[in-house]
Amino acid sequence: MDTGKILAGFLAPHPPHLVYGENPPQNEPRSKGGWEPLRWAYERARENLEKYKPDVLLVHSPHWVTQQGHHFLGVQNLCGKSVDPIFPNLFRYSFELNVDVELAEACCEEASAAGLTAKMMRNPEFRVDYGTITTLHMIRPQWDIPIVGISANNSPYYLGTREGLEEMDILGSATRRAVENTGRRAVLLASNTLCHYHFSEEPAVPEDMSQEHPHDYEGYLWDMRVIELLRRGRTNEVFELLPQFIDEAFAEVKSGAFTWMFSAMGYPNIPGELHGYGTVIGTGNAVMEWDMSAAALA
Ligand SMILES: [Fe+2]
Repeated sequence: MDTGKILAGFLAPHPPHLVYGENPPQNEPRSKGGWEPLRWAYERARENLEKYKPDVLLVHSPHWVTQQGHHFLGVQNLCGKSVDPIFPNLFRYSFELNVDVELAEACCEEASAAGLTAKMMRNPEFRVDYGTITTLHMIRPQWDIPIVGISANNSPYYLGTREGLEEMDILGSATRRAVENTGRRAVLLASNTLCHYHFSEEPAVPEDMSQEHPHDYEGYLWDMRVIELLRRGRTNEVFELLPQFIDEAFAEVKSGAFTWMFSAMGYPNIPGELHGYGTVIGTGNAVMEWDMSAAALA
């Protein structure tokens, strides 16, 4: 068996509005579109994902919350209806997905060996959260690549940002070892929004884009600063700034996916490709890609 590798990582945020705007047959509510710049960003990301021909997509979602440790989907086929508890008017999605259980188990074992509390999720009736579903639908609507779903232990919220993100760093390197040892060609998906301040009321027509804009100027400036550093490959600077960004912009990267992904990739100082940026109910969302073959050349 060849040594596996991480081919690429994507920052792939999960506002359910993007699925709602697309009107796929799996989602019950119908829309007249909306949030096109972000949806077009995902279209560009899909084309690049196609080129990698990965065996598996790994996604870490902030909305599968497991306070006791880091959990991994561990049932080969899962199906059901996923509903966003905040926006049930926008997201009631009938999902069916295949899990790479062997890789998930390897990730879980590596995480345990590294000292983390880790567990396999074996409930065949499990309802997969809207964050996992939205990210996967937006990056690969064909649903023809097996996945590994990873929960958010949310340790940064109750341990403190730095200590919690150190755990995500350990989870990331454990994930990399599991990918290498199982011979997989893997793509990682960090399901995170950037600035996360949001409006508390929805317009009468949710997809009325005349009502969509950044929640506040300070958050917008933060997003632009972080994206610009990422576009220039200044990864180290981003991670130095991350705790301040999280505190001042209420950034959803606090939940850990962003740190998990970069740790698994070895924090490469390579330029990220920005596919697009847009706001959803005021929150800042970027779709970005890091091609690890560029890191190998560097
Ligand atoms: Fe979220």
